[in-house]
Amino acid sequence: MKQFFLAPSILAADFARLGEETVKVLEAGGDIIHFDVMDNHYVPNLTVGPIVLKALRTYGIIAPIDVHLMIKPVSDSLIYDFIKAGADFITFHVEASEHIDRTLELIKKNGCKTGLALNPATPINYLSYVMDKLDLILLMSVNPGFSGQNFIYKTLDKLSQVRRLIDETGYNILLEVDGGIKIDNIYQIALAGADIFVIGSGIFSYPDYKKIIYLISNELEKVHS
Ligand code: DX5
Ligand code: ZN
Repeated sequence: MKQFFLAPSILAADFARLGEETVKVLEAGGDIIHFDVMDNHYVPNLTVGPIVLKALRTYGIIAPIDVHLMIKPVSDSLIYDFIKAGADFITFHVEASEHIDRTLELIKKNGCKTGLALNPATPINYLSYVMDKLDLILLMSVNPGFSGQNFIYKTLDKLSQVRRLIDETGYNILLEVDGGIKIDNIYQIALAGADIFVIGSGIFSYPDYKKIIYLISNELEKVHS
């Protein structure tokens, strides 16, 4: 049976109580913490860096943390800093590195899992020659920068294509979808082939995280029945 993972995006959490919110969403059933890093250059917003990631580890968060870098360029020193701070996955966008293969190699060599992100309009051919270096492919289903945007349905075609690419080539790569995922579209996204679902406002805008995660998980169960 296929395994699904929920990755709450703490971008939509209450930043004044970040440690508490992170514990709460994990206790409610979140599997992976999605950590959005924005630089006000690659995307029109500014968020958090390695210091905040380190603070979450110090607070006691031991769950996998999936760092989504929306920064350009992706510098070697920031990669080291995020790994040192406790990242499990580091994902960057294809437009953000002049040397995708080299950046992937650097992340891997330093003991971290790699991820490559594609925006809604970015073609999938970037993936072909680096499949052997990828642990994760992140498909954006909104334009990166903000939580709470609407899912772009055109990206479902791309999702199915990338699912096929992973299955045909046989690499052990997780397929993650990010942006606009809600209880009323997650079933469709799961059917198209996603493994990891990043959800920000679709969890954090509800008062009871346990209840909404339970309802979302029920939607995913339908794929198995
Ligand atoms: C958007 C971020 C997402 C965002 C998702 O640029 O990469 O991770 O937090 O938030 P929702 O689920 O609200 O679209
Ligand atoms: Zn993200």
